[in-house]
Amino acid sequence: MFIQFSILFLLFTTPFTSLIKAKQDNTNFVRSLDLKELNLENKQEKLSHLKFYWHDIVSGNNPSSIPIVPPPLKNSTTAFGLVNMIENPLTLGPQLSSKLVGKAQGFYASTSQSEVDLIMAMNFAIIEGKYNGSTITILGRNPVSDKVREMPIIGGSGLFRFARGYAQLRTHWFSSKTNDAIVEYNIYVLHY
Ligand SMILES: *[C@@H]1O[C@H](CO)[C@@H](O)[C@H](O)[C@H]1NC(C)=O
Ligand SMILES: *[C@@H]1O[C@H](CO)[C@@H](O)[C@H](O)[C@H]1NC(C)=O
Repeated sequence: MFIQFSILFLLFTTPFTSLIKAKQDNTNFVRSLDLKELNLENKQEKLSHLKFYWHDIVSGNNPSSIPIVPPPLKNSTTAFGLVNMIENPLTLGPQLSSKLVGKAQGFYASTSQSEVDLIMAMNFAIIEGKYNGSTITILGRNPVSDKVREMPIIGGSGLFRFARGYAQLRTHWFSSKTNDAIVEYNIYVLHY
């Protein structure tokens, strides 16, 4: 009786345990870990506010924003399909000559056929103060004629590891002659 039971037990449990084992083997590149292992056990997530001005310089001999894909439809009123690669200065004040605190590196593209909406993918590389060397990554929708636009902060590096939050944009100045723009950025970000 006992032997029969054991055989039955083995018969039923062996395939089951090997199934579990196979599952573990398939996922052994993932493990859970303790906050201690990243020295985060005593750290509180904190909220920071960053404010600076973003300069989109498309005119002149030294542009920071360069069209790399021209709008494919010549009659598009929204430049649908246009892609600009940027390394735009981030300054403390609205003047380009004010203190440079970082660079916005990335690209934006025109994604609407009915109004000027941009998709923006940017890394804000901070070069000043305590956050020098840390980055914040933004990916969002920018309907440029809205008074206030909001884009998600989707991550960060260095002191901005685990970053999440949002950026609010307000056009500070725009020249319809050159298409150069200065935009105020207020960033609200949770990080450790
Ligand atoms: C743009 O041009 C294309 C091809 O010539 C035409 O089919 C389309 O209706 C035009 N669009 C507008 C907004 O004029
Ligand atoms: C920022 O970090 C870089 C690289 O470590 C360094 O060369 C530079 O002097 C730093 N800038 C400031 C303002 O501390």
